[in-house]
Amino acid sequence: MAPNRDQATSSREEPRPEARRGLGATADQLQTRATKLAVMRIQVVEHPLVAHKLTALRDRTTNSPTFRRLTEELVTLLAYEATREVRTEQVTISTPVAQAEGVRLAAPKPLVVPILRAGLGMLEGMVRLLPTAEVGFLGMLRNEETLEASTYAERLPDDVSGRQCFVLDPMLATGGTLAAAIRFLVHRGADHITAICLLAAPEGCARIESELADLHVPFTIVVAAMDDRLNERGYIVPGLGDAGDRLYGVAG
Ligand code: URA
Repeated sequence: MAPNRDQATSSREEPRPEARRGLGATADQLQTRATKLAVMRIQVVEHPLVAHKLTALRDRTTNSPTFRRLTEELVTLLAYEATREVRTEQVTISTPVAQAEGVRLAAPKPLVVPILRAGLGMLEGMVRLLPTAEVGFLGMLRNEETLEASTYAERLPDDVSGRQCFVLDPMLATGGTLAAAIRFLVHRGADHITAICLLAAPEGCARIESELADLHVPFTIVVAAMDDRLNERGYIVPGLGDAGDRLYGVAG
């Protein structure tokens, strides 16, 4: 039987090999597995639709228009899980029949932060679920020799304290880009950060955990699958190749 959510979030068990590729989800509607560490929580979303779309994304014969559409659909599914703790406030509304108690998203609005360039391909799928969110941009480049990330552009509020931040970055590979983005947001005052990734590599997760151990700001990474490893070029294996190139072609 699948663990319930509380059991799952306090578990440190390693995923089954098939779950690491996101290919072997059971028929249960939605199962999640999470690993809780000191400040970092990784949540692998196991769902048949997630596994199905991810498999098509991995396929080298999937063309760019299809890849973009599948990415958006996959992000919407991941966003459902990633927004489980989005803040709401109580409201009373009138239905055509009677008054009813309900909730609406609380102020301040959530902030969605795609990391350029490939994170842009995830934006539409995210705002479909959170249409009132505000969007900030963070441009980060990975040096292909040192594999270190540096910021080349940013369009974000100076102060993001009190905002729930959702970072979009498809590939958590070496972890350098995401670690730098999370640190950037924490320096701007963020204290509630969730990253949404399509794929992650164990090496990158370990690096983020150790690099950000000093932050004392808990953050969650929601991912469709935890893959096996990185290759010598810093690509996720089996992965899906270069996410930016597959989304937008090789021009950028
Ligand atoms: N970035 C990508 O686009 N793909 C990888 O496999 C690793 C980093």
